[in-house]
Amino acid sequence: MMAREILQQISEIRARRRAIILAHNYQPPEIQEIADLTGDSLELSRKAAQTDASVIVFCGVAFMAETAAILNPEKIVLLPRPEAGCPMADMITPEDMRRIRSEHPGVPIVTYVNSTAAVKAESDACCTSANSIRVVSSFSRAPAVYMAPDQNLAQYTAAHTSSPILHWHGYCPFHHALQPDEVLRRKEEHPGALFLAHPECRPSVLALADEVTSTSGMLRFVKESSHERFIIGTEVGILHPMGKSSPGKEFFPASEKMFCPHMKMISLDDILHSLETLEPRVSVPEDIRIRALHAVQRMLHLG
Ligand code: 13P
Ligand code: SF4
Repeated sequence: MMAREILQQISEIRARRRAIILAHNYQPPEIQEIADLTGDSLELSRKAAQTDASVIVFCGVAFMAETAAILNPEKIVLLPRPEAGCPMADMITPEDMRRIRSEHPGVPIVTYVNSTAAVKAESDACCTSANSIRVVSSFSRAPAVYMAPDQNLAQYTAAHTSSPILHWHGYCPFHHALQPDEVLRRKEEHPGALFLAHPECRPSVLALADEVTSTSGMLRFVKESSHERFIIGTEVGILHPMGKSSPGKEFFPASEKMFCPHMKMISLDDILHSLETLEPRVSVPEDIRIRALHAVQRMLHLG
């Protein structure tokens, strides 16, 4: 089938099914182009919580679709390629979480949304890269806060809150791979360019950044900035929406290695197939969902 025909069919079935297509900022350009909403993890969770659509087609990785399913037990949530996972989410298990809880009594656990539903269910609150400081600060009366699974987000948050922070040792393989010497080389190649980094980068990289923020935070920053040139320290998929929303500005990836293959699995064909068959569905066992919902809602209530 020609791309134009696929697009036409997607829009027909989307309307008939009362479906909404959500896509993360790292998705391939053609997926972002047909989405009803693109955004960072926080924006997509908010949209998933508010939509009155009957079907949510989630173009992202499994933890994002699971979050939509946690928030919408009555809706059909589709992840067109269920094998699209997040390696960081798999770096901690519910058993690890229970051990942390018993080793640190009285210490609330704040879990990055890049985690499985079963891990969220063991948490006091979730956070994203856009609100980790706000969420951790809400526990200011606790003796300390434990953050899981991302060591880098935890260290970044610790530097911006007064709470003592303990943390798990997970990481994103594609953000953690970026080294300061690579950033310094890019800065030499592009003098005067501002360096933006995602909080999943290691602390020695964040120390070189002019701005540390989530993927949508980066989109807003470059649009509002009077600067024209930027080195981008996050997954390269962000360059598509960046070029679109800030035409005429120049963007240089901090490293070509910052490519997340899990975010590139879904094709237009997969979306069409999912809309036709209403498969593959994402669902979360009710006992886990209820406990995970509590942690996700605490995050969403904090704004
Ligand atoms: P954002 O929440 O900033 O979109 O990041 C999600 C993610 O997976 C980063 O690797
Ligand atoms: Fe997970 Fe990293 Fe891919 Fe984000 S970029 S989905 S943290 S593996």
